Amino acid sequence: MYSDSDAAALYDLLNPWDPERNTCDGFYHPLVMGADAVIDVGCGTGAMLTLARERGHRGRLLGLDPDGAALERARRRDDIAWVGGRAVDAPRGAGFALATMTGHAFQTLLTDDEVRASLAAIHGALRPGGRFAFETRHPGARAWERWTPANPDDVTDLVDGAGRALRYGHDVDSVVGDVVTFRGVLTDTEGTVLRVFGESLRFLGVAALNGFLAGAGFVVEEQYGDWDLAAVGEAGPEIITVARRP
Ligand SMILES: C[S@@+](CC[C@H](N)C(=O)[O-])C[C@H]1O[C@@H](n2cnc3c(N)ncnc32)[C@H](O)[C@@H]1O
Repeated sequence: MYSDSDAAALYDLLNPWDPERNTCDGFYHPLVMGADAVIDVGCGTGAMLTLARERGHRGRLLGLDPDGAALERARRRDDIAWVGGRAVDAPRGAGFALATMTGHAFQTLLTDDEVRASLAAIHGALRPGGRFAFETRHPGARAWERWTPANPDDVTDLVDGAGRALRYGHDVDSVVGDVVTFRGVLTDTEGTVLRVFGESLRFLGVAALNGFLAGAGFVVEEQYGDWDLAAVGEAGPEIITVARRP
């Protein structure tokens, strides 16, 4: 009904990478442009690195993601290395100046073991002095409570590249500890379900997150609670972190 490659294209329609319009993208873009070697972990369709290259980044760029269809879309740009794999597969000793995990990709790391192993691999992929920039949704904002068809702000109507009129929204199945399991549901305008995307995301709090970072050998340099660079509060909405490998 709706193929993996359709789904990858849909992701870009729903989440266009635009540093001038989206403050989150505007946070990362100068970091990427200012680093001579960048690994984007959980790069998805590769929009961030693709734009960096289009805008004149001449250094080493590598996108890493386990989703083959997303990477296939990223490969439209062939002067960037696109590698299949999870965060834990980040290449040790690669000497990157900057590692990123954008679009809340960090929240796909569900268990303590996966968080530890992923942070160790990212640390190992950086050169001494290299930085890791990423964000995770603050659990205090309870974002998942708004991921429901009852919330009109969570429902997006759009027309895809093939001219199909579509509706996309979310519904939560469970909240177990700090892991939220939910579905992204894609329908046509009559309500016929075309595709269901099941996903689980972890909502780590600030103390636990910083404990994992310290355990992996990172020093937190900057931490913000929102894209306007406000301090981290009790209610989020974000925990935006720039950590350094000493
Ligand atoms: C919401 S998308 C974000 C994509 C892109 N970074 C962006 O900002 O648009 C989350 C991505 O994380 C990837 N992912 C899932 N598990 C992962 C893991 N263990 N390590 C790295 N990436 C993972 C998914 O395949 C997906 O492409």
